[in-house]
Amino acid sequence: MRHKLGFIFTALGIVFGGAMLTSSVHAQEGAKLGDDAGIYKEFGEKAGLVQIMDDFMANLLKDPRTKASFENADKTRIKEQLVDQFCYILNGPCEYKGAKMKPIHANLGINRENFNALVEQLQFAMDKNNVPFRAQNKLLAVLAPMHRDIITR
Ligand code: HEM
Repeated sequence: MRHKLGFIFTALGIVFGGAMLTSSVHAQEGAKLGDDAGIYKEFGEKAGLVQIMDDFMANLLKDPRTKASFENADKTRIKEQLVDQFCYILNGPCEYKGAKMKPIHANLGINRENFNALVEQLQFAMDKNNVPFRAQNKLLAVLAPMHRDIITR
């Protein structure tokens, strides 16, 4: 069920994500949800994002579709960069100073199954941390179009 949902929201995001972007300045790394003042709070602000990323990474390391990509990677750095990236997208007081999505994922051989699995594991982590469904989907709509820079096979 979750897998299907993840796919549906990914597909929805691919179709509608572009239209929902309020600022395309950093579209490649995720546009700010500029019309939504409360969404950063719905994610529990910085502390909430740190906890979500801890749960998310633990999930990614257990999922056979994502495990191989992350087990030898610098997990601490990736979590920190994801906190900043999501904080920025969610209108929080953060800047994303990490790598651009296309070059950092270019040699990882990521396919659609890997991408959908990551989205699904993010949904599990957001559910666990009580992020409202509507807020989850707003973030997913910004992330989904990034598949163009991340999936390479
Ligand atoms: C919308 C989806 C995704 C987003 C927003 C995202 C975001 C990020 C960010 C912020 C970083 C850290 C960049 C830095 O260190 O400066 C990163 C690195 C990384 N990502 Fe993703 N990612 C996504 C999808 C995926 C997928 C599907 C996989 C594999 C299943 C993946 C595997 C990795 C790996 C292995 C690294 C570390 C690369 C390295 O250090 O050389 N990512 N990603």
